[in-house]
Amino acid sequence: MNDPNGMFFYNGYYHLYFQYYPEGNVWGPMHWGHAISTDMITWTEQPIALYPDKLGDIFSGSAVVDLNNSSGFGATRNKIPVVAMYTNSKRLGNDEWLQTQSIAYSLDEGKTFTKYENNPVIENPGLKDFRDPKVTWDSIHQKWTLVLAAGDKINLYTSTNLKDWEFQSSFGEHIGAHGGVWECPDFFPMVVEGTNEIKWVLLVSINPGGLNGGSATQYFIGDFDGKTFSLDPSFNNDLENEKALWIDYGKDNYAGVTWSNIPDSDGRKLFLGWMSNWQYAQQVPTETWRSAMTTPREITVIKNDGQYRLKFLPVRELQNYVSKTIRKNEISITDKTVVAKSPLVDFTKADIQFTVSDLKQDVYTFSLSNSIGESISFGLNNKDHFFFIDRSKSGNTSFSEDFAKNVSKAPLNKNINDLDVRIILDKTSIELFYNNGTTVMTEIFFTTQPFDSFSINANAKPVEIENLIIKQLKLN
Ligand code: FRU
Repeated sequence: MNDPNGMFFYNGYYHLYFQYYPEGNVWGPMHWGHAISTDMITWTEQPIALYPDKLGDIFSGSAVVDLNNSSGFGATRNKIPVVAMYTNSKRLGNDEWLQTQSIAYSLDEGKTFTKYENNPVIENPGLKDFRDPKVTWDSIHQKWTLVLAAGDKINLYTSTNLKDWEFQSSFGEHIGAHGGVWECPDFFPMVVEGTNEIKWVLLVSINPGGLNGGSATQYFIGDFDGKTFSLDPSFNNDLENEKALWIDYGKDNYAGVTWSNIPDSDGRKLFLGWMSNWQYAQQVPTETWRSAMTTPREITVIKNDGQYRLKFLPVRELQNYVSKTIRKNEISITDKTVVAKSPLVDFTKADIQFTVSDLKQDVYTFSLSNSIGESISFGLNNKDHFFFIDRSKSGNTSFSEDFAKNVSKAPLNKNINDLDVRIILDKTSIELFYNNGTTVMTEIFFTTQPFDSFSINANAKPVEIENLIIKQLKLN
């Protein structure tokens, strides 16, 4: 699989569709696979929801619950329709295709879909890359809003019935990173944490052209008048000269978008990304499966010193999977100290947190390793101001030159005084959330045997680690 698609919540279920080629473990004619969950952690796969048709394969898109039946699709059976919008990508030849936008509706809560008879609903305006529609109900302007990727820009449309779309504006000229094609946008309003202020967030995936190589997702925050998105002026400096702000500085979080129809009583903005990178997605050493999604994450907009930023943290539902908790209040580290080991901890499914206050050293290195010398190391360089993750010794890396060529870095604009670290580990992935989710790094790896120890390197000076909490997770 690749991108998450059509995510919506309805009647107790989170729905996830995904880019899926059922005939093989490499990319091919795309379908929408489908899975459902009551907590976003345990998923049950469902039959394929959308198959290729005469307009083309089924590329990425979104789905909304049309509560007021604005589309009219629910009328015949008096049902609330779920309306999916996706890209039909028709192959015309080698490296040539025609991309248009289509819709389909479901009257059984997302199990099966009927394609609209007048597809496509948005014709191609003469662009090679024209795809990935994401629809949002704009409760402020009382309209459906749609963003889609058009070359290396975002086109914005509005509608009152999900069938007729009016082009409003385009965004992206001379703003942000443009080292590749823009893909899989998302656009939604959010209340800035601790205020009543509303800001609009635009997520834009780009491939290639990510800061650490290949695929990555940048973001913009600003205002929306119902027609045009304007970037908040506080971003101007940050985005000069093709610079961008990234939702994740690891190499493996791409094409991520948010769930629609999360009830107001919940109020969260919930996100899921595809945990791979087009540089090597089709070469990773897995056979019976290929690719996974990130841990679902809650997004928050914060304002610090006049700057708006996004924060991402794993959803609280993960806590329901904790089978055992190990705590150590204070550990003094000198040199390289092992702070936890197997079999006490199974590092193939764990949630590890700790704090280091009053940072005095230049570099803090944390590592996971096994007895045959494979390791992954990550941490903070507080002198040159960046977080890093290095998977060059993490086992099988030879399947692609790009996989471990560089150490991935997340720049900081100044040094920091305190560090809190949260590490989510699965068999083949590490998700790092620094300082309450203000910097995130997600990477995959392929060891030949599991990591069996977690250590911290104090580079000769003692370091005090506070509140180490290791939660063992019980996942299949
Ligand atoms: C992003 C992407 C989308 C496209 C889909 C095709 O990973 O290239 O732009 O719709 O994958 O599978």
